[in-house]
Amino acid sequence: MRLNIAIDGPVGAGKSSVADAVARRLGILHLDTGAMYRALGLAALERGMNLQDEKAMVELCGSLPVSVTYGEDGQHTFVEGKDVTGLIRTNEVSMAASTVSRYADVRRAMVALQQKLAAETDMLVDGRDICTTVLPDATAKIYLTASAEERAKRRWKEMNEKGMPDTYEKVLEDVRRRDEQDMNREVEPLRQAEDAELVDSTNLTFDETVEAILKIVEAKTHG
Ligand code: DC
Repeated sequence: MRLNIAIDGPVGAGKSSVADAVARRLGILHLDTGAMYRALGLAALERGMNLQDEKAMVELCGSLPVSVTYGEDGQHTFVEGKDVTGLIRTNEVSMAASTVSRYADVRRAMVALQQKLAAETDMLVDGRDICTTVLPDATAKIYLTASAEERAKRRWKEMNEKGMPDTYEKVLEDVRRRDEQDMNREVEPLRQAEDAELVDSTNLTFDETVEAILKIVEAKTHG
């Protein structure tokens, strides 16, 4: 049977890096769905488009093929054949991704692509609506979170290491703003699926978080 692991959670919960480590331990691919919304957000910014214009964003999504490939270093995300992996991690692109992900027809297209990829191979998929919409029948479903302060702290540290000198207060404000936007949008807002297991990593180390998720997967596959 196809092994599909679904992980949802708010910004900065460490989803991407934790998901990457869990997928490696399980020997399966990791699909970072946020990167797909980010790729669309970046494309809109690069074209100087108005992100509030839903119709234009849906048209852009329909005309721009977003795709992913896998290499030794994990997922690469492409827009119109251009590798944008290194360009989609800025704060500006984060906000743009959060904005374009509000539109129902954008989501429909992204979800269809994600479902197609997950049907083709064993895969761990992380995002906001994976347990609820993309893979409701996943082998294991996890909601990974941490307090807003802790998430901002981690993100701030990470950004500083990359030479992006935002203050902690600014990062916390961004985290709260994106939480607000992701949790209160009309279409498929971020929420914990009823049958998803909660992993709160506020007081867990990275390795402890990975182990907690592997334990849940183990219980689902062998329990
Ligand atoms: O996980 P991330 O920070 O890379 O995601 C960027 C934005 O994309 C996030 O603010 C909400 C949106 N997103 C979404 O709506 N659904 C997903 N499955 C993944 C991301």
